[in-house]
Amino acid sequence: MKIIIGSDHAGYPLKEAVRDYLTARDIAVNDIGATFLPTGELIDPSQRHYPLVAERVAVEVAAGNFDFGILCCGTGIGIGISANKIPGIRAATCSNHFEARYSRLHNDANILCLGARVIAPEFACELVDTFLHTDFEGGRHALRTDMIRELEYKYHR
Ligand code: RB5
Repeated sequence: MKIIIGSDHAGYPLKEAVRDYLTARDIAVNDIGATFLPTGELIDPSQRHYPLVAERVAVEVAAGNFDFGILCCGTGIGIGISANKIPGIRAATCSNHFEARYSRLHNDANILCLGARVIAPEFACELVDTFLHTDFEGGRHALRTDMIRELEYKYHR
């Protein structure tokens, strides 16, 4: 399984915790930052804005280069709204196990968005586990994800 992960400045500590959690479980993680210097300064200040981080992760996931993306900001909301602008992305902001599970079962979510100011890092890692280990049910739900794709063609061109 290949994962790409990113955050803005607010999601940075949570992103670090999730990356370490996955790495410790031998899951390949491509961490695009935000990346801090030892001094605490961001290496590239332009990358602290959540729409830019969301775009970079979402484009990679939509291209099929990664199985899933994980995005962290303060609430998980702004970065999720941004990621969902990229065709082919179904980003879900989750703060409990039910949402993490059903975003996969029913929505085939391909990006999990987490809020560093909403949930604790340990709990967020549990949600990551639930998300990554739940399969899409397909069937009538695939009909609906196809309809989401049709909306992209209808309104994004
Ligand atoms: C940054 O202060 C904050 O607005 C951002 O991380 C996120 O919560 C936006 O949705």
